[in-house]
Amino acid sequence: MSAAVLPDGILDFAPYRSLANEELAARVDEVRKQLGSRLLILGHHYQQDAVIAHSDLRGDSYQLSQSAAANDECRWIVFCGVHFMAETADILANGPEQLAARDGARVDVILPDMSAGCSMADMAAIDQVEAAWEDLAEVVDVNEITPVTYVNSAASLKAFCGRNGGLVCTSSNARSALQWAFERKPRVLFFPDQHLGRNTSLQMGITNDEMPVWNPHDEELGGNTVDAIQQSRVILWEGHCSVHQMFRAEHVHQFREQFPGIQILVHPECMQEVNDLADISGSTGKIIETVRAAEAGTKWAIGTELHLVNRLKSEHPDQEIHFLSPVVCMCATMHRIDLAHLCWSLENLLAGHPVNKILVDDETARWARVSLERMLQVR
Ligand code: 13P
Ligand code: SF4
Repeated sequence: MSAAVLPDGILDFAPYRSLANEELAARVDEVRKQLGSRLLILGHHYQQDAVIAHSDLRGDSYQLSQSAAANDECRWIVFCGVHFMAETADILANGPEQLAARDGARVDVILPDMSAGCSMADMAAIDQVEAAWEDLAEVVDVNEITPVTYVNSAASLKAFCGRNGGLVCTSSNARSALQWAFERKPRVLFFPDQHLGRNTSLQMGITNDEMPVWNPHDEELGGNTVDAIQQSRVILWEGHCSVHQMFRAEHVHQFREQFPGIQILVHPECMQEVNDLADISGSTGKIIETVRAAEAGTKWAIGTELHLVNRLKSEHPDQEIHFLSPVVCMCATMHRIDLAHLCWSLENLLAGHPVNKILVDDETARWARVSLERMLQVR
């Protein structure tokens, strides 16, 4: 293929669409060879196999954040995940310590397709969170609230937490993050995922009566009474993951009936009814480790994104692995990063025209780093 170059020097994406995966894979390999250790490709566990095959490192949100913060060799990170993950990598890879170790050289973070977002992250916007904070200040002392944001959120929300004595959590350290918060203040505002917030708080002995749900579209205290807010310990933002909400309690019952002895393993973004019925709940990293450590012949029904469950099936043929839903639950936005976008972004990088750079402004990054560094300290 002769590359079509647009007037600004960028390679046109259109011709990449029609290339076969074999050719795309060979070309990705060639760029990786030429850029060597200056290039780091990170892949989230939900990513499709054809893409994950080219990642230097695959992991859950926590592990990928850690590796972005720790790598001082690379010059470019190509993030095969979703937008908030790439923002987090930009913030952590370009902190003062990291810049000093590279004599001031920045790492450019690239998201191969800019439309790879997260519908849950979009359920909490900074103006909504700030408005909620102001409304809460009318009925409780906000100096007594720790804001905790799930990493699945925009950088501006992480900065809000940094500025207000709060922190970021991932699904793998949510409990420790809440413990950290309660060691400092009696109340938490948790956004944007109500399910992770609720499932984790329940494990810590907090009851549903102490967890009102804040609807950002309801102007009357998020749909709550003054009393409910004053009695609360954790105020849960009304957000959810559209993928994980597809797993239902009836699916758990059906699997248990049909396959006696089966173990139910779910991500804590699933709703409470599912989480309560499950044998084990944990981050994508924990789900993988749990299956890896199990004996041959173990039966599982797993409630998390389809690509990860299918990969577990092919990596563990000695175990019996089922997907905990009759319908396809896949992260459609993560799936937008395909081999064509990966190849296109890498060849532009090699040609000296990096595309789709994720750049968090300095002020937001400074405060978001405060809350992300707390996240990395709290395990
Ligand atoms: P992990 O933190 O478990 O990788 O999950 C990220 C995510 O977006 C799950 O939907
Ligand atoms: Fe967001 Fe859900 Fe996709 Fe995770 S699976 S990235 S929470 S939309």
